[in-house]
Amino acid sequence: MHAPLLACGAGEGSAGGAATGTDAALRAMLANSLQLPTIPHVAAALIRVADQPRASASDVRDVISTDQALVTKLLRVVNSPMYGMRKRVTTLTHAVAMLGFEAVKNLALAASFSEVLGQSAEGYGLDPGRLWMHSIAAGCAARLAAERTGYAQPEEAFVAGVIHDVGKLAASVHIQSMYSEILAKAACGKRAFNAVEREVMGFDHAQAGEAVALSWNLPEPLSQSIRWHHEPGRAEHAVLAALVHLGDALAVALGYGLGIDGVSYTFHQSCLITLGMSGADPMRIAAIMPDAVERLAHITQG
Ligand SMILES: [Fe+2]
Ligand SMILES: [Fe+2]
Repeated sequence: MHAPLLACGAGEGSAGGAATGTDAALRAMLANSLQLPTIPHVAAALIRVADQPRASASDVRDVISTDQALVTKLLRVVNSPMYGMRKRVTTLTHAVAMLGFEAVKNLALAASFSEVLGQSAEGYGLDPGRLWMHSIAAGCAARLAAERTGYAQPEEAFVAGVIHDVGKLAASVHIQSMYSEILAKAACGKRAFNAVEREVMGFDHAQAGEAVALSWNLPEPLSQSIRWHHEPGRAEHAVLAALVHLGDALAVALGYGLGIDGVSYTFHQSCLITLGMSGADPMRIAAIMPDAVERLAHITQG
């Protein structure tokens, strides 16, 4: 694995401050002109159920149970060393009792994305499976960071990390025709890759990802963390965006699922302040990531 150059950036664009998302005109253009991937059936049902004010654990359980392959994956994750369960968890009911309804819903959501994120994103130099490996690594690191900082919902950080680059699937065909221009500009200047994407294509993969999130009706904290994963200081849900940014940066630094944007990554140190972390904390997370990531990637495939 090659460790890429991790460039550090202090600022995050000229606008600064919290922002809610891409402006409406660009959002409409992206929704019309990009090929947005289809949301997995179970994920759509989970989001619908969770949106209902009186949704219960059994409603969520019923939805997950419709997909036995997903149940198997989910139980494998719950029984992985990530959770350190003393006794083997063998049923969904048991998983909900141990982890809670919200955590199981988010875990199921993350696992349900394995197929769509397992596709290739050729425009970004990602063969089949590479984007999923990157997604799992970022989700795992975001979750580890969430635990370390006492974030109330570590599984929300996990699913947000897993889904952060979904925009690459939508923008892949588009970027292919401008590939050489983007690569040349990204290579010669010390600019963030997504800033070069915006200059050449008129939008970046984070904005494309927000378009996907909106079309999928993902909860707002998730769509916001996708939108601002390269500029976490501008997100309304700043802590979640910072967890995803750190998870993404660590996945890139350890070489998981690198594509054409992996040669230069602008890491915003300010996310450590948002998270109340010291400079040594990311190194501690990086040290335990490889084992957790390999296991998770293995058990979520197939
Ligand atoms: Fe990204
Ligand atoms: Fe990423």
